[in-house]
Amino acid sequence: MIIHHPPFTIHHFTSLGSTNDHLKAMTAAPEFTCVFADEQTAGRGRRARTWHSSPGDGLYLSILLRPQSGSSSKIPLISLMAAVAVAETLIERGVAGVDIKWPNDVLINGRKVGGILAEAVSGGSEALRVILGAGVNLNHQSFPPDLGETATSVAIETGERIAVEEFRDQLLDKIAEWYEVWKRGETGLIINRWQQLSTYACGQRVTVNLDDEKIAGVTAGLTETGALRLIVGAGEVKTILAGEVMRLRKTVE
Ligand code: BTN
Repeated sequence: MIIHHPPFTIHHFTSLGSTNDHLKAMTAAPEFTCVFADEQTAGRGRRARTWHSSPGDGLYLSILLRPQSGSSSKIPLISLMAAVAVAETLIERGVAGVDIKWPNDVLINGRKVGGILAEAVSGGSEALRVILGAGVNLNHQSFPPDLGETATSVAIETGERIAVEEFRDQLLDKIAEWYEVWKRGETGLIINRWQQLSTYACGQRVTVNLDDEKIAGVTAGLTETGALRLIVGAGEVKTILAGEVMRLRKTVE
């Protein structure tokens, strides 16, 4: 089924492997094509993880963006901007305890409720495409044991069910607004809003798992391209481009 929700054209499927994979294969699709599925049988997360995508419980969607050439340093901000949009949509719906963990995990009361998988595709003469995938746990009552204590849903946290398609449309509107900000180059607004919404942004003792090492430090905000600043040792500042952040304990005084 095709639904028009300007500027988006939504392709709605009952079941897909992964909405990101499906959209990636639509090589000629115009910007703002959106692939949405009631369930995914091979939903993917960051760092080669799977994304639990049971039918009707969550929001599983991917959006095609075609950023102008010359904007490559700003590309990482697209996934931060999407996390901001998810967090704002939850907050507007009255959900309390919403947080963002760098770079783009959306949490409620410290547990993960949403994630972003942004994949850039380019090569040869093809113009850059960004497949922006978002997964949000809305109506799940439970999760598989391997997700243990780490995952949650809006229903678990608030006791209320959410109409998935209503949430989808609200989120799409937020993403469209923030993408306009991104296209205008007002990236400071994205960074500021991300920092406002994240208790992890500044003054948090964390460890960061990099591929081959683990470093500990205190967070000191984001760089203008969305990397995480970490104070390690005696005031040395490291810039983290990719990694898994874990909080050690509460705010540093
Ligand atoms: C993460 O690991 O935090 C990112 C999760 C992203 C999941 C979404 S669900 C829709 C889209 N299709 C996928 O296969 N993954 C993303």
